[in-house]
Amino acid sequence: MAQDLAGRVVVVTGASRGIGRRTAQRLGTHRARLAVVARSADALNTLVAELRAAGVECEAFPADVTDPAARAKLVADVVRRFGGIDVLVNSAGTASFAEFTDSTPEILRAVTEVNFFASVEMIRATQPELLRSSLNGRKDGSGWRAAVLNVASTCGRIGVPSLSEHCGSKHAITGFSEAIRLEFAQFDIDVLLVHPSLVTTDDPAKHYIRHAGKVDLDFAGAVSPEYAGERVVEALLSRRRETAVGRDAWWACFGKRAWPRYVRWLMRRKVRKFAQRHPGE
Ligand SMILES: NC(=O)c1ccc[n+]([C@@H]2O[C@H](COP(=O)([O-])OP(=O)(O)OC[C@H]3O[C@@H](n4cnc5c(N)ncnc54)[C@H](OP(=O)(O)O)[C@@H]3O)[C@@H](O)[C@H]2O)c1
Repeated sequence: MAQDLAGRVVVVTGASRGIGRRTAQRLGTHRARLAVVARSADALNTLVAELRAAGVECEAFPADVTDPAARAKLVADVVRRFGGIDVLVNSAGTASFAEFTDSTPEILRAVTEVNFFASVEMIRATQPELLRSSLNGRKDGSGWRAAVLNVASTCGRIGVPSLSEHCGSKHAITGFSEAIRLEFAQFDIDVLLVHPSLVTTDDPAKHYIRHAGKVDLDFAGAVSPEYAGERVVEALLSRRRETAVGRDAWWACFGKRAWPRYVRWLMRRKVRKFAQRHPGE
């Protein structure tokens, strides 16, 4: 059932730049009340000033989402400020773009901490508020349902060389989301997945822990963060369970089901090209 976001309290992590920032801006046009989260307080404050100037109710909550104490404080502060939470958008993320052979346990932990554990723990921390929100929707007969939206990745549906840690963490959040979607159905809480393929990041140096990947990331075919943010908000409005953003994402999420051999061939071709460009490595 389509949902109206006007007046709803939406927590957006990763809102200092990229997809999270554009998602917050787009949510503002739907008159959502916004709690924007990231570590960079200055970037959040700039966003808040811009949104408030446009008449949007918005507050910055600078926090490292991998820190349990910071997460608990963040959720308590949002509830104190807005009186509850109706929607959680987990967009905070990181990646390591390089081969597994040169990786370290620390890099694997760092990627998984943000992309998987922090997202899951944000869901755990906000669940009581989301439950309350859906209960109110039942009581007032509005048909409102709270929601969790996880910004996963094409890497959550298909293995991509040079992004092994990212693929592991994004498959984890994808599988986790599918499991809790079934559990949360009884509470009228929707669990949604958005899988972007390549998105032009504001600053790739900030997005990737390592930049040494040998696979060709074709940024010519990348979508803009604005476009990705629009798809996130559309998914929240329509409650589409799974949204692929970009052509590669569509192949990874849906094309693979109908033409698995073709998609396997495409991926093998990518790796063959990779081996030709780096002979002997
Ligand atoms: N860009 C792509 O090509 C692409 C493709 C597929 C999926 N995705 C996924 O889409 C999501 C957004 O990506 P993006 O392109 O917008 O990346 P981005 O431009 O690098 O932004 C990442 C956001 O996450 C925040 N963040 C990172 N670590 C954090 C932490 N420990 N605590 C709080 N906030 C943290 C960053 O803010 P601070 O640094 O200020 O904390 C920033 O706001 C990620 O989950 C990413 O994996 C991206």
